[in-house]
Amino acid sequence: MKFFIDTANLEQIREAHDLGVLDGVTTNPSLMAKEGIKGIKNQQKHYVEICNIVQADVSAEVIATDYEGMIREGMELAALNPHIVVKVPCIADGIKAIHYFSEKGIRTNCTLVFSVGQALLAAKAGATYVSPFVGRLDDICEDGVALVAAIVRMYRFYDYKTQVLAASIRHTKHIIECVDAGADVATCPLSAIKGLLNHPLTDSGLQKFLEDYKKVNG
Ligand code: E4P
Repeated sequence: MKFFIDTANLEQIREAHDLGVLDGVTTNPSLMAKEGIKGIKNQQKHYVEICNIVQADVSAEVIATDYEGMIREGMELAALNPHIVVKVPCIADGIKAIHYFSEKGIRTNCTLVFSVGQALLAAKAGATYVSPFVGRLDDICEDGVALVAAIVRMYRFYDYKTQVLAASIRHTKHIIECVDAGADVATCPLSAIKGLLNHPLTDSGLQKFLEDYKKVNG
């Protein structure tokens, strides 16, 4: 399973990249706003900086919600760097735009996906990635991981090439559950990725090894 980090924070992106296990980055307008990045030119510069750090897929989201606007913005984003994946919301004009980008060989991430039906349309339009939002479904007492599993099953059954990118991951357990569901990618906060490392038996085992080493070697 591929790991993307879900942030626009350069420090966190560098830290995850330095771990050597990062396959890409996802951003969204809220994450960009959280970093205080204002204006199109600054945002574009920020995307390029992220691409230069990771040299891997970086999802950059369009703001327009109409077909022409999405095409214009998406073409501009894609021209910034070959690693850019144009992130498009799962609405009618978005599906049309994904189809357009797919014909042009521009990679896309269909975002804000909350149902198998939406994921079906994204795949038929030729999306590179589809992003079911796990945490936001859990927030309303639905089962986010079950949706990931259902989309994976559907794509495997019909042999769609669209990759299932589990998004809105809130904690480490979500990542493990998405592995079990067969997600191709999980985009996670840094804390959730680092949480995978934690095990008390690793800590106590390492401490014992070091103590035993010291007993003999001083
Ligand atoms: C990433 O592609 C999504 O925009 C992001 O994971 C949403 O996460 P949130 O539900 O925690 O805001």
